[in-house]
Parts: sequence; C-alpha cells; structure tokens
Amino acid sequence: MKRRRTMAVGALLLAASVGLSFVHPWGDVRSVSSSGQILDGSTVPDDVRKVLEKKCADCHSNQTHWPAYSRFAPTSWLMEHDVYAGRAAANLSRWEGMSADDRIAMLTRIAAEARSGEMPTRPYAIAHPATRLTESDKQEIAAWARAERKRIRTEIAEQKITGQKERKKHETGQ
Ligand code: HEC
Repeated sequence: MKRRRTMAVGALLLAASVGLSFVHPWGDVRSVSSSGQILDGSTVPDDVRKVLEKKCADCHSNQTHWPAYSRFAPTSWLMEHDVYAGRAAANLSRWEGMSADDRIAMLTRIAAEARSGEMPTRPYAIAHPATRLTESDKQEIAAWARAERKRIRTEIAEQKITGQKERKKHETGQ
C-alpha cells in the first residue's frame, strides 16, 4: 500500500516536471536556427574553433546541445536561463553580422574571460569537467584573439586607404 502511494506521488511529480518544462520563462531559446558553424566570417584556426565549440558553444551560440535531463523542470529553466543570458552576452553564431569594432571588442572579452578562468561558468564546469580550459587552451585563445584583432584592424586601415583613393579620384575627376 505504502509503496503504491510512493509510486503514485513519484509519477505525479515526474508528470509535473515534464509538464512544467514546457514553460519557458526566458522565451523559446531552444528553437533557433543553427546552420553553419560558430565564428563563420572570422579567421580562426581549427584547434581554437574546436575548443570554443566544445567548451563555450552550449551557452554562446545557436548550436546548443540539450541533454535529456534538460527536459525536466526546474533543471530546464536553469539551463535555458544560462543559454539566454550567454547568447545575449556573446553569440558566436552571429559573428558575420557584427561590425568590425564589435568583433574587436568581443575578441578582447573572450580572451579576458578565458584567461581569468571565469568561463565556462562554475556549475557548468562541475557538471562537465572536460570543458574546463587548459593552460594551452587559454594561450591559444589569447594568441588567436590578438592575431584576429590585428587582422581586422589591418583590413579596416586598407579599406580606408582604398576609400580615400577612390574619393580623391572622384574629386579630381581622374
Ligand atoms: C553554462 C553556460 C556558459 C558557458 C558554457 C560559457 N559561458 Fe560565457 N557567459 C555565460 C553567461 C550566463 C554570461 C553572462 C553573464 C556573465 O557575465 O556571467 C556569459 C558571459 C560571457 C562573456 C561576456 C563577458 C562580458 O564582459 O560581457 C564572454 C566573453 C564569455 N562569457 C566567454 C565565454 C567563453 C570563452 C566560454 C568558453 C570557454 C564560455 N563563455 C562558456 C554562460 C556561459
């Protein structure tokens, strides 16, 4: 008798948990389009892209991998909140749409967050120990961020020079 009641309560809680997981307090962060790969539009070594894909993309891209336990409230809400806030702070699936200045600023922030060890967030790193950044991950991310900032700055400078030449040609009618 007692066992049957415990099972009934368990089934009820499970049903409630699944039912509540259909409530999305931060909007439907699960149904975003995820074509292409992260950092499309940047020059990034495969190694670095792989590290960011594996260790950051769950929260900072549209390519979130949702494990089975994310289907149960209240875990579902904790995860959806992380993804919502993470994408709002930095979405690596949106690189192509960002201005050059925003990309430069974002590269600096990515390198800083990686170096300080603040990312991935602590609860996530505890649940997924393989996502902790190694010393060499941090160095590779920092080196890439530096090189990519420089590349973008050179590109801007070259465009400005070309722009000036074009304007001059136009003004002098040559
Ligand atoms: C579990 C989800 C999660 C993972 C995984 C994660 N982040 Fe974050 N990240 C967040 C959230 C949430 C924020 C916004 C709130 C904050 O700053 O703590 C954020 C903020 C940031 C910011 C913006 C900081 C600022 O100053 O605006 C950067 C850059 C960043 N993360 C980089 C990374 C990098 C690099 C990785 C991988 C090594 C990573 N994150 C992994 C959740 C995550």
